Amino acid sequence: MEIIRVKDAVQGGKKAFELIQEGMEKGAKVLGLATGSTPETLYAEMTASDIDFSHMTSVNLDEYVGLGGSDDQSYRHFMDVHLFDKKPFAETFVPNGKASDLKEECQRYDDVIASHPVDIQILGIGQNGHIGFNEPGASFEGTTSVVDLTESTINANKRYFDKVEDVPTTAISMGIGSIMRSKKIILMAFGEVKAGAIQKMIEGPITNELPASVLQNHNDVVVIIDEAAASKL
Ligand code: F6R
Repeated sequence: MEIIRVKDAVQGGKKAFELIQEGMEKGAKVLGLATGSTPETLYAEMTASDIDFSHMTSVNLDEYVGLGGSDDQSYRHFMDVHLFDKKPFAETFVPNGKASDLKEECQRYDDVIASHPVDIQILGIGQNGHIGFNEPGASFEGTTSVVDLTESTINANKRYFDKVEDVPTTAISMGIGSIMRSKKIILMAFGEVKAGAIQKMIEGPITNELPASVLQNHNDVVVIIDEAAASKL
């Protein structure tokens, strides 16, 4: 793992954007994207740039079950507002949280991933070490599945909802096996709340109990962290 320490989230977004540009110059065509507060500075850099993404494809990590593009809290909506409405991509994929047959939707999403292998995957990390919505205990070989969100994740994400009861308790998430097949992975983490997970991810044992620790097995991972997230290293 290459660790890049930055002053703050803004600098982190700039660094991640530089790496994406380098990757695109070398031929990257598919970006794996994340939602949440962590990649917001990266998406701000992308939208402010004059780079054309209209030949690029994106594949997002996850979506809440029960929410779709017309719901303000859906990850499809988040991506449209933060990136795609301003920077059109050729194709953008996000799991369909409103699919009537969720098992079929997971299979469909695995087919999407298989036909659009991710060149550069952007990741955030949960306070419990999750990547995507692969919570502690998730299989390292996992493909797309419906996952139960832990109390820690529900509490961390309630800030986007009026009340905690409104936070969906399940999501569709790309699996760890698929994430690990991305050619390059850029994980970003900002703030003290991430310091514990970052320390375990980098210095701890590789264990399903801290899903992000699996990244120690990947041969091209860049970790971009601010001082607060690096404070327990
Ligand atoms: C989001 C995702 C999650 C988040 C993580 C951190 O698509 O898959 O793993 O990256 O929960 O969220 P923030 O960035 O809001 O702290």
